Amino acid sequence: MTLWSGRFQEPPAEVLWRYTVDPADRRMLLDDVVGSIAHVTMLGESGLLSDDESDEILNGLNEIKSEAEKEAFDFQDSDEDIHSAVERRLGELIGPVAAKLHTARSRNDQVALDIRLYLRRAATARILQLEAFASVMADLAEGVGETVVPSYTHVQQAQAVPLAHHLLAYAWMALRDAGRFVDAAERLGVSPLGAGAGGGSSLPIDPERSAELLGMTGTFENSMDAVASRDLVAEYTFCCAQAMVHMSRLAEEMVLWASAEFGWVTFADRHTTGSSAMPQKKNPDIAELARGKSATVIGHLTAVMALQKGLPLTYNRDLQEDKASVFAADDTLAATLEALTAMLASAEFHPPPPGSAVTALDLAEEMVGRGVPFREAHEAVGRLVASLAGDGRDLSDATAQDLDAADSRFEVADLARTNPLDSIAKRVSPGGGSFADVAIQMAAIRERVGRT
Ligand code: ARG
Repeated sequence: MTLWSGRFQEPPAEVLWRYTVDPADRRMLLDDVVGSIAHVTMLGESGLLSDDESDEILNGLNEIKSEAEKEAFDFQDSDEDIHSAVERRLGELIGPVAAKLHTARSRNDQVALDIRLYLRRAATARILQLEAFASVMADLAEGVGETVVPSYTHVQQAQAVPLAHHLLAYAWMALRDAGRFVDAAERLGVSPLGAGAGGGSSLPIDPERSAELLGMTGTFENSMDAVASRDLVAEYTFCCAQAMVHMSRLAEEMVLWASAEFGWVTFADRHTTGSSAMPQKKNPDIAELARGKSATVIGHLTAVMALQKGLPLTYNRDLQEDKASVFAADDTLAATLEALTAMLASAEFHPPPPGSAVTALDLAEEMVGRGVPFREAHEAVGRLVASLAGDGRDLSDATAQDLDAADSRFEVADLARTNPLDSIAKRVSPGGGSFADVAIQMAAIRERVGRT
């Protein structure tokens, strides 16, 4: 029996059921029960249920809660949604008094609550995963020590940087992603329970109390907003999408770095796959799939945005579709973080040392230190690079004559600046990737993730 059979003279068609019922919401079982426990407690305290009634209903709900925790809850095809399933089970357990559970509540405020509770729990898990990822990046950074690589702009070699600095850039992205989940979780902490169908209730309910019982930070200002809005679901999906996009950038670099051309990294055999045709292949499939799955998660974000667009207030069944998208986005991020973190934790980095061209800016800055205007120093080093490139030489191959021919303000001692390691040793700007700076970053990251 449905929750709404009274008005209907025939049972729902099989096609309606097949089309409208989405078992995706079953994973909110625990949240639905926890929400109901708070609701019933509030109803009892507000005098809307007698003590006996609220005790009986709470006993039944607690039994369902333990079924949920043991993953022993028995869903039935006739359950229209998670809310109907819980109410059906409550009736089986405690009989007619179960009919009082839904007093001063609608599935509209109920589902808005369930998704918030679910996503708050999920956010906690994602934050831990992102922090674990950042922690692994800090360990890798420590492991590569003073390995120097070129940084790239336009995929052209730019400045010398510690490989550790490059790896830590991803740790910072992950920590910002974690921070976004923290922020989203705070907004998710506002309870919509008590908004009812969208227009509140004539019964003397206490939404503040149910919010408090749920450990939420407050309650809604507007019941229509509370049941109609899904910006928080979109925000959560964005958090997933942005984290996936960061992971896709890392993944792309790992794919490149694992190539024979780069030869910067080797992944453990157990974290790579082979080719059915070419025996020599060792493919970084985890990274490739992380890159690919980020496209799918962007799609989920687009879906949640489009779902809200132009939707009249308040609740519309369209909103049921938010669950499949946000759950899929969250699951994909969880799986991606797990796989990429494992793959990276056992990676070995062995990039070749960069050529001296990556010190061109250092050479110019050496002249700037003597008072040469930067634009002129830039021109001078540019002339030097061009003249050396003409016969296939690198910056460190320059002779005193080459220097003099390019600009009389060069000094022979400037050639000492064409060593990439020296380039890093002389870097002083905060966050600029000197070895000392990298050590500060590692300590800060470890402090942030509580793993000092
Ligand atoms: N499955 C629905 C959803 O996810 C639950 C709320 C249904 N409310 C309603 N009035 N039909 O949105």
